Amino acid sequence: YFAPSPPPHLSVFLFSRFGHYVAAVYEHESILSPAPAALVERRSALELMGRNLDIYEQQVQAAARQGAQIIVFPEDGIHGFNFTRSSIYPYLDFVPHSHSGKWNPCREPYLFNDTEVVQRLSCMALKNKVFLVANLGSKQPCERWDPRCPSDGRYQFNTNVALAADGTLLATYRKHNLYFELAFDTPPEPDHAFFDTPFAGKFGMFTCFDILFFEPAVSLIRRYNLKQIVYPTAWMNQLPLLSAVEFQQAFATAFNVNILAANIHHPTLGMTGSGIYTPVKSFIYHNMESYGGKLPEKGKEQSPPSFYAEMMYDNFTFVPVWGEKGELQICVCANTLCCYLNYRRAVLTDELYALGVFDGLHTVHGTYYVQTCALVKCGGLSFSTCGQEVTNATALIDFQLWGNMSTPYIFPLLLTSGITLDFADHMGWKNNHYFLSKNRTSSGLLTAAIYGRWYEKD
Ligand SMILES: *[C@@H]1O[C@H](CO)[C@@H](O)[C@H](O)[C@H]1NC(C)=O
Ligand SMILES: *[C@@H]1O[C@H](CO)[C@@H](O)[C@H](O)[C@H]1NC(C)=O
Ligand SMILES: *[C@@H]1O[C@H](CO)[C@@H](O)[C@H](O)[C@H]1NC(C)=O
Ligand SMILES: *[C@@H]1O[C@H](CO)[C@@H](O)[C@H](O)[C@H]1NC(C)=O
Ligand SMILES: *[C@@H]1O[C@H](CO)[C@@H](O)[C@H](O)[C@H]1NC(C)=O
Ligand SMILES: *[C@@H]1O[C@H](CO)[C@@H](O)[C@H](O)[C@H]1NC(C)=O
Repeated sequence: YFAPSPPPHLSVFLFSRFGHYVAAVYEHESILSPAPAALVERRSALELMGRNLDIYEQQVQAAARQGAQIIVFPEDGIHGFNFTRSSIYPYLDFVPHSHSGKWNPCREPYLFNDTEVVQRLSCMALKNKVFLVANLGSKQPCERWDPRCPSDGRYQFNTNVALAADGTLLATYRKHNLYFELAFDTPPEPDHAFFDTPFAGKFGMFTCFDILFFEPAVSLIRRYNLKQIVYPTAWMNQLPLLSAVEFQQAFATAFNVNILAANIHHPTLGMTGSGIYTPVKSFIYHNMESYGGKLPEKGKEQSPPSFYAEMMYDNFTFVPVWGEKGELQICVCANTLCCYLNYRRAVLTDELYALGVFDGLHTVHGTYYVQTCALVKCGGLSFSTCGQEVTNATALIDFQLWGNMSTPYIFPLLLTSGITLDFADHMGWKNNHYFLSKNRTSSGLLTAAIYGRWYEKD
């Protein structure tokens, strides 16, 4: 169900081994501080966060009326972003990390000071009898004897809280893979956070950038055999491979889990894309409004067998996918990875596509090792436009894509025109190669990719 936007709000039925349950995610357009670097009083920080929490409250009521048993809100949705370490301090709640399951912030507000935000969230859960997951900034005093204790005597964490339908604080998670968030500290050890529900068993929790790393996301899922994930995020979309909905779906498929993913809604910063994903079906919200992608450049070039172009800051080796009819196989290699493509253009257009390969350490905006085979639509007709961000396509291409990947952690990506999603007909391992194939996408093809994460080489 899509509510009229704004506010975007999405809720669907999900099936679990316990039967079915109803989940909601809310893509919140947060009211931001106009001067996030300025130092303010706790009172005015609470006033600003209160305005966001008023909207949360309406959404919890609306979701509960529609039968939702759990609702998930995005990262940074309550306090916003662009703070410094000291300017965020008045926005931080004290969130006891070790008291999980024993404290009901709505019923026992007097137990700890500086817990106004958690109290409100707890009361919303209690009043509407719904499980609630939200993200907030938290503080934890530390002692001089602690060698990691920052010089200002406190830890500041980017924190998710999970509240039960009676308001009890069930679990907390402190973000491990921070994305240039100078206001926050990395917790000393990765949290493996999950909570139990009567309707679907255990839900694991992690946040935003964490989705790209082994710790804690992959190890959490493995260790507790989790089938349900809640995922607050504030994700800036990056095409062709890292659009929010594209990667959220690939993660659900790769690890055979349901994901309830709530992103923040700020199209001018490239932030949108939330959804409820099962391993085989997705319900998404993606609305970029003014977002148009780059203008195509017209031009003709020579036809070398392969060429280099930068895609998402990585130096990809590409070959053009030109054949107009019949079946052709093409191949492109880099380092130890070779990618192969069999294809047939079902609807002929003058759009340029290319098959790209990258096997190396990605170092811009985070350091992580990637092995990728990607069939992408180029921004225009010249080779230099391959790897650009493109949002529309009309070509229908039947394909089989495969590569001799060296990592078992594979995220199959299939993104179609207008940032819509599709599922492959077949995917999986065969003779040490990972395969992905699709005969008829529901609309024009933007990206079909085998995105491998080689965690050990980070
Ligand atoms: C936050 O910072 C980014 C760049 O660092 C800037 O583009 C954006 O406008 C800022 N947003 C707010 C709300 O201050
Ligand atoms: C809360 O703060 C007040 C004023 O600083 C203090 O007197 C009180 O003991 C604190 N309560 C708790 C539970 O820490
Ligand atoms: C993409 O397609 C939509 C609908 O088909 C159209 O309204 C929009 O203008 C197109 N955008 C671009 C950048 O071509
Ligand atoms: C990309 O890699 C190729 C092969 O290693 C190299 O020749 C080329 O200079 C690189 N391009 C850039 C922009 O680094
Ligand atoms: C992938 O295939 C290429 C070409 O056959 C080969 O050179 C390369 O060593 C293979 N990589 C791995 C990891 O087996
Ligand atoms: C997909 O198309 C190829 C030819 O392009 C054909 O060999 C194959 O059987 C088709 N697969 C399905 C599932 O229709």
